[in-house]
Amino acid sequence: MPPLVVGNWKMNLAAGEAIRLAGAIAREAAAEAEIVLCPPAVWLVPVASQLAGSAIALGGQDCHQAGQGAHTGDIAARQLADAGCSHVILGHSERRANHGETDAQVAAKVSAAHDAGLVAIVCVGETAGQRAGGHALSTVETQLRGSLPAGCDTRNTVIAYEPVWAIGSGAAASLDDIAAMHLHVGSVVGAHSDRLAGCRILYGGSVKPENAREILALDGVNGALVGGASLAAEDFLAIARAV
Ligand code: PGA
Repeated sequence: MPPLVVGNWKMNLAAGEAIRLAGAIAREAAAEAEIVLCPPAVWLVPVASQLAGSAIALGGQDCHQAGQGAHTGDIAARQLADAGCSHVILGHSERRANHGETDAQVAAKVSAAHDAGLVAIVCVGETAGQRAGGHALSTVETQLRGSLPAGCDTRNTVIAYEPVWAIGSGAAASLDDIAAMHLHVGSVVGAHSDRLAGCRILYGGSVKPENAREILALDGVNGALVGGASLAAEDFLAIARAV
């Protein structure tokens, strides 16, 4: 499978900015990497129009675990699919921290995403305190075991390792730490399910044009989940070209 580069726009950009950014990326993107853009939900449909005819895929930033119903403010996986999404980010650390999402909830969302035909990009990662305490590997292992329901396979699931302390900090994890964690994630998911052996594992956390090439060249790194640097077309495209 080709490397995957995902742009997570988070809660950024006005309508016009989102449309211009999607258009610029769609015009310039090369074919080396598979690219997914994850705009705020309100801009999914206009961004989908910009991406029409390009090879760039669209993703949501979250979905609800239920198929439909009385869940004010939430979005069902099938609604994301209807809006043109093929992917959805689930269990991002900002959702886990700001909305108290548990591994069990993330697993339920992953199942809902699969039921709707979406590829789930499942995020895991330790905090600074967990790493300082020597618990980085065990924290990520616990998150993986709890967040990946039966039914996950290499086609419908992508793992994103994102150390919480590296997100938005400007400083990515060290190459040694990234390589060690990706090896660990690969062995945990392979032991969790045969069908996940060899699944794509992305690194996220302050990926930028300056560090993308060396991170993406590491064994076991199959792409990147990019936040801040995905908000400028040139930076994001430089990362996609670094695969
Ligand atoms: P960052 O965010 O690239 O701004 O560190 C990554 C993410 O949160 O997905």
